[in-house]
Amino acid sequence: MKTFKELTEERYSVRDYKDIAIETEKLNYILECARMAPSAVNFQPWKIYVITPESSVKNDILSCYAREWIKTAPYCLVCCIQHNQSWKRSSDNKDHGDIDIAILTEHICLAATEQGLGTCWVCNFDTERCKSILNLNNDEEPAVLIPIGYPSDKSVKKEKNRKAINEIVEFV
Ligand SMILES: Cc1cc2nc3c(=O)[nH]c(=O)nc-3n(C[C@H](O)[C@H](O)[C@H](O)COP(=O)(O)O)c2cc1C
Repeated sequence: MKTFKELTEERYSVRDYKDIAIETEKLNYILECARMAPSAVNFQPWKIYVITPESSVKNDILSCYAREWIKTAPYCLVCCIQHNQSWKRSSDNKDHGDIDIAILTEHICLAATEQGLGTCWVCNFDTERCKSILNLNNDEEPAVLIPIGYPSDKSVKKEKNRKAINEIVEFV
């Protein structure tokens, strides 16, 4: 079994996928890991729309992101914040939905890695178009697209380019 550190090192942004389905058990496992994510006040202000290979809106959803590679993904998860359910801090009214959805999304990505699947966070997409395709109400924000599937042979993991530990951590 992989350690958590190994999983974090193994996960990378996959931008080319094999044209094969994901086993239902694997998909359910990943969604269950998403469900376990923590959230502010445990409000769980989220919803995941699973775009399957058979979905009538699959092409439309993928076209919300203007990169050809995303079309190779057999599945796509649309991770949405429900702003009418998210916690707002009383001192400054900060909406914590963004933080909550980020935790849920990374649970998905790491669980997928554990299952031998690839993912990529995609935030640079047309959210208004996505909202109208999925008929979302104004309280629901599609925050992240997660294409998911088996990495193709063309998908290669680059060396992790990360700041040194002493640049990001300070003991005070
Ligand atoms: C919040 C967020 C938004 C991102 N949006 C995009 C995106 O729109 N398109 C894309 O190709 N990658 C996107 N990425 C992936 C990052 O570019 C990638 O995680 C980063 O370069 C580190 O590479 P790695 O994931 O392979 O370790 C995003 C990542 C995060 C965390």
